[in-house]
Amino acid sequence: MTIVIKTEADIEGMRVAGRLASEVLDYITPHVKAGVTTGKLDKLCHDYMVNVQGTIPATLGYAPAGHRPYPASICTSVNHQVCHGIPGEKVLKHGDVINIDVTVIKDGYHGDTSRMFMIGEPSIQARRLSEVTYEAMWRGIRKVKHGATIGDIGHAIQSLAESNGFSVVREFCGHGIGKKFHEEPQILHYGKPGQGMTLKAGMIFTVEPMINAGKKDIRMLGDGWTVVTADHSLSAQWEHTVLVTEDGFEVLTVSAGSPAAGATQPAAAHA
Ligand code: MF3
Ligand code: CO
Ligand code: CO
Repeated sequence: MTIVIKTEADIEGMRVAGRLASEVLDYITPHVKAGVTTGKLDKLCHDYMVNVQGTIPATLGYAPAGHRPYPASICTSVNHQVCHGIPGEKVLKHGDVINIDVTVIKDGYHGDTSRMFMIGEPSIQARRLSEVTYEAMWRGIRKVKHGATIGDIGHAIQSLAESNGFSVVREFCGHGIGKKFHEEPQILHYGKPGQGMTLKAGMIFTVEPMINAGKKDIRMLGDGWTVVTADHSLSAQWEHTVLVTEDGFEVLTVSAGSPAAGATQPAAAHA
């Protein structure tokens, strides 16, 4: 297993890529409303990345082993869709909740981040699921420091999710990221304190819990990408890219529009 310890130059490149990814979410926020199609959101983000930022949408044509090339520049996962929803003709309607996941490449470095958005007034359960998932991501991130373990992160996330009656998706996890989109290590969103690999200063990875309102089981749709909950329950996800430091962490996917850490009512969730 090769885990890249980033150099100062890598870290600076990752700060830029991370900020740019977050700025795509800032840019798209006012467009995420009833009546818009997910395909329109994809087109807007694509054009912003390519024409305004000069970034490359990392997901467009991305084809890991066993997958057909992903056909869009963002992922849009609505309601019971867990992750990797493909933008298209779907029209957002009042009460929907949607995760938008953006990964850009700038000067060879990847920045990967996602947020939840609510269309109009969502159900009490949908709002609570999004808020708990946001707090779970932050509890995981707050465990990050040189000498902590991957299990410390996973346990913090899993215990909050399950104490709220929700479940953690197992098949997808956070990942090392840098010049490659997905690299070692895998950051599980469940686990036990002290277990798993020890974190080292200079590692960069994502924390991106997928939390279901119902059971943890998932299914893949026939398009080969879209993941949904097996029981059709709602699912939520938030994602940041994080640097391990000697005494803690630095979140790299931050921008002017990032919801505050520790917000009980994430600002973006009301968009
Ligand atoms: N951005 C996703 C992640 O957080 C990966 C999307 S890959 C795609 O790892 F091909 F589905 F776009
Ligand atoms: Co990711
Ligand atoms: Co992502």
